[in-house]
Amino acid sequence: MYLYVGIAVALTALGYFVQHRRRKRDEFKKTTKSEFADRGTRWSKDQHEFYVERFYETGLTGTHDFHGGMLNFGFWTNGNKDYIKAGHELLSQVADPVKLNGESTLLDVANGMGAQDVFFMKKYSPAHIDMIDLTLSHHLIAKKRMQDNNLQDRVTAHYGSAVDLPFEDNKFSHVFSVEGGAHFPTREKFFGEALRVLKPGGWMSLADYAMPKRPTGMFENMFARLCAKLWNAPLENWYGCEDFKTRMEAAGFVDVVVKDVGEYTIPGYYEESVRPEILAQLSKIRGWFTTYVACRVLDELILYVYKKNILTYVIAYGRKP
Ligand SMILES: C[S@@+](CC[C@H](N)C(=O)[O-])C[C@H]1O[C@@H](n2cnc3c(N)ncnc32)[C@H](O)[C@@H]1O
Repeated sequence: MYLYVGIAVALTALGYFVQHRRRKRDEFKKTTKSEFADRGTRWSKDQHEFYVERFYETGLTGTHDFHGGMLNFGFWTNGNKDYIKAGHELLSQVADPVKLNGESTLLDVANGMGAQDVFFMKKYSPAHIDMIDLTLSHHLIAKKRMQDNNLQDRVTAHYGSAVDLPFEDNKFSHVFSVEGGAHFPTREKFFGEALRVLKPGGWMSLADYAMPKRPTGMFENMFARLCAKLWNAPLENWYGCEDFKTRMEAAGFVDVVVKDVGEYTIPGYYEESVRPEILAQLSKIRGWFTTYVACRVLDELILYVYKKNILTYVIAYGRKP
């Protein structure tokens, strides 16, 4: 009896939470001018993109200034406990090895809410950035962030998918993606697209995930699959660092480097996400259920699969010949 009452209360709370997020998202879209705002999503239910967009739309609308608008795991070194510093360090780990500079033309794929592009512009001053993301709210927030930073002439926002890039061949000197790759249907298809739009000699650089060891046994298998499902990350994208390198080379990249940087990213982010003051801030934005139940479960799962050596974090880059 108590169990049924408990389930009913939990389902009612969940229903209320979903409605609340949907209302906030709709309000947001109505008040933000965009060629897409009236039309809503461009994805249909038979596309993987639809589910990825729904994943980010329901949980994240309203968090665009939290953590400076960045969603990356951060690169935590020298005892640093400041997320903004760690987030910027992670972005530098993507840009520095491939020498982003004042002459570069950058395509940033899966730009999220655009905070990273403000950072790239301020630190490296590339000639132009095009950015593309499949989540409508992220696209709209990123576009507005460029206006707020007076960067609308130097950064152009696009709403679309990594595996079908709306750009001509040989256009960019650099293609980046920070924590988008695991979602792409598939990452290898994106490698092909990135190679196509890069100029000869241009660099692709990624912050992404790899799966060093296949899960063994029922328990590990179950957890790995649950992570992939909750994260909307197709299982075709789950392979280790060596395989990551081989697949980039097979796509046509040369001078490929894939560095395992799991120890600098996942534990630091986990510590950040369980700090009571961070949970309290998030609870105000996302609500109690998402903060203390849904996100906590996801964070614990990520730490579990990392400790079991099933998941790690990589910086990967390579050049178009
Ligand atoms: C973890 S977030 C990272 C966002 C941003 N790079 C950051 O670090 O703040 C992943 C992003 O990938 C985007 N994304 C996922 N699949 C995509 C695809 N196929 N094409 C373009 N963007 C995609 C999501 O909409 C989301 O904004």
